[in-house]
Amino acid sequence: MESMAPFLLLLLAISVVHADEGAYIGVNVGTALSDMPSPTQVVALLKSQEIRHVRLYDADPAMLAALANSGIRVTVSVPNEQLLAVGQSNATAANWVSRNVVAHVPAVNITAVAVGSEVLTALPNAAPLLVPAVRYVHSALVAANLDRQIKVSTPHSSSIILDSFPPSQAFFNRSLEPVMVPMLKFLQSTGSYLMLNVYPYYDYMQSNGVIPLDYALFRPLPPNKEAVDANTLLHYTNVFDAVVDAAYFAMAYLNVTNVPVVVLESGWPHKGDPSEEPDATADNADTYNSNLIRHVLNSTGTPKHPGIAVPTYIYELYDEDQRPGAVSERNWGLFDANGVPVYTLHLTGSGVLLANDTTNQTYCIAKEGADAKLLQAALDWACGPGKVDCSVLMQGQPCYDPDTVEAHATYAFNAYYHGMGMGSGTCYFNGVATITTTDPSHGDCTFPGSGGKNGTFLNGTSLAPSSNSTSAQSGSPHSYRDIMQLLQIVGVFLLSLPLFL
Ligand SMILES: *[C@@H]1O[C@H](CO)[C@@H](O)[C@H](O)[C@H]1NC(C)=O
Ligand SMILES: *[C@@H]1O[C@H](CO)[C@@H](O)[C@H](O)[C@H]1NC(C)=O
Ligand SMILES: *[C@@H]1O[C@H](CO)[C@@H](O)[C@H](O)[C@H]1NC(C)=O
Ligand SMILES: *[C@@H]1O[C@H](CO)[C@@H](O)[C@H](O)[C@H]1NC(C)=O
Ligand SMILES: *[C@@H]1O[C@H](CO)[C@@H](O)[C@H](O)[C@H]1NC(C)=O
Ligand SMILES: *[C@@H]1O[C@H](CO)[C@@H](O)[C@H](O)[C@H]1NC(C)=O
Ligand SMILES: *[C@@H]1O[C@H](CO)[C@@H](O)[C@H](O)[C@H]1NC(C)=O
Ligand SMILES: *[C@@H]1O[C@H](CO)[C@@H](O)[C@H](O)[C@H]1NC(C)=O
Ligand SMILES: *[C@@H]1O[C@H](CO)[C@@H](O)[C@H](O)[C@H]1NC(C)=O
Ligand SMILES: *[C@@H]1O[C@H](CO)[C@@H](O)[C@H](O)[C@H]1NC(C)=O
Repeated sequence: MESMAPFLLLLLAISVVHADEGAYIGVNVGTALSDMPSPTQVVALLKSQEIRHVRLYDADPAMLAALANSGIRVTVSVPNEQLLAVGQSNATAANWVSRNVVAHVPAVNITAVAVGSEVLTALPNAAPLLVPAVRYVHSALVAANLDRQIKVSTPHSSSIILDSFPPSQAFFNRSLEPVMVPMLKFLQSTGSYLMLNVYPYYDYMQSNGVIPLDYALFRPLPPNKEAVDANTLLHYTNVFDAVVDAAYFAMAYLNVTNVPVVVLESGWPHKGDPSEEPDATADNADTYNSNLIRHVLNSTGTPKHPGIAVPTYIYELYDEDQRPGAVSERNWGLFDANGVPVYTLHLTGSGVLLANDTTNQTYCIAKEGADAKLLQAALDWACGPGKVDCSVLMQGQPCYDPDTVEAHATYAFNAYYHGMGMGSGTCYFNGVATITTTDPSHGDCTFPGSGGKNGTFLNGTSLAPSSNSTSAQSGSPHSYRDIMQLLQIVGVFLLSLPLFL
């Protein structure tokens, strides 16, 4: 027996987390639109965008009929309004499954049933019914011999995970353990997965400046700015990975190590209230979703489980104009009701066609509200050592007006960025620059990259596009060191703040 122990340990180590189907991106289809497209139009859009996985918030028969024989994999949902009935009666659950699942397969490729939505946080009174509901739905699938192809789970808000940074210290809110422990056992014994909603946008918004926007948007951070989990020494370069790993650690804390995570919702709003929600912009939504898609499809996994795919459903297909609440609530969509992309995702190289990526056009501009001295130093660097031709910024030249440091820096940053082939790390400038998809050209001042034109960049081939090469080394008393100090303070915060996610 004793000699078996190492073997068992090895087996345990190997039996951690396997994602069934590898990496994929799906999309959530919400229907609170005043001019909701018909199910056939929805499916036509999904097909034209090569979206092969969707999550419905119900099991609408017309939508399922349109999805029949489309090749699209479908997660259907038991809406929260029906949870009470389904969780209280095995017969009701069996009836639900027969009408909403069995009636549609195999024409519709239903791969999962999501039972309720964020029940533990949205409907805490219904928590005791959650485990019975998933069990009843599962036993009805067993009876129909569909349990192997259709998984049952329930989507959780990531707010049920406490102390989520560092991820290694995360745990599920203890008052939810009476539900989470049997739930995880159920997921484990049925080969299902943990459905998690991951919203770095809200984590960022609620962090009061502790979480840098770049960290939420998957933008490259200098290595010394990455958050490090002091217990595991794992480096976290983005909020998404940190939250997913927090879920893995929270499960491990309850001795569950072989239930994969599927992110059932994630996204970024493209519009919000200008004063309350200034970071809900099309640029940020484009950046977040484009980077998310690349990250997921690359199967990079997370620091805790490298190489283990985290299938993710983007929230959401359409802007839902009928949703109540903040302006941003109605602006998470990739498309408007006519199927026109709200913004163009920049997915070049990721091998998917989604939201019509036909351009490579991005621009590098000065960050709004950036420190004027840092901007000036970076501008000086770009027009000097950076070898940007800044003659158009001289008085009488087309890009002189507006004569502000911000406008001139924007021109110079963008010229440098395009001169460097828009390489990664070439739009950094000590953190005072940012990438946008909006052409900043104005009047006669045409920016490099605009209309496919090349920049006025001269001979930059010898400059490596590293962050130190873009630093303002030209002698400004502020600049580099100050910024690095600031970032280190942020880093310290990231490590010590108990509840930042
Ligand atoms: C249904 O989806 C599953 C999971 O992605 C896949 O393995 C299977 O081939 C699909 N079935 C059909 C008929 O497309
Ligand atoms: C619930 O119903 C299924 C059939 O749908 C049956 O197999 C199962 O034993 C029932 N479970 C309970 C607890 O009654
Ligand atoms: C933990 O869950 C309980 C029960 O839902 C809730 O009242 C409490 O606020 C949660 N704690 C935290 C820190 O979120
Ligand atoms: C997890 O396993 C440890 C060690 O076997 C045990 O002490 C602990 O009670 C277990 N926790 C749970 C929630 O099962
Ligand atoms: C993709 O994955 C490889 C290793 O698997 C990694 O080196 C590379 O940086 C990743 N690319 C992106 C864009 O994440
Ligand atoms: C891109 O979108 C336009 C409408 O915005 C559409 O006419 C065109 O067919 C789309 N192209 C692809 C390849 O999907
Ligand atoms: C976009 O840029 C990449 C490399 O930067 C290039 O391989 C690709 O062909 C470009 N696509 C278009 C549509 O210009
Ligand atoms: C941009 O510059 C590159 C090399 O510097 C050149 O190969 C390319 O043809 C130029 N593109 C345009 C549209 O002028
Ligand atoms: C570019 O650099 C080469 C040598 O590296 C030099 O001969 C050439 O004159 C430079 N061109 C400009 C426009 O500075
Ligand atoms: C950038 O930093 C690296 C290591 O810190 C150094 O080797 C390199 O020379 C630096 N490059 C520039 C252009 O300063």
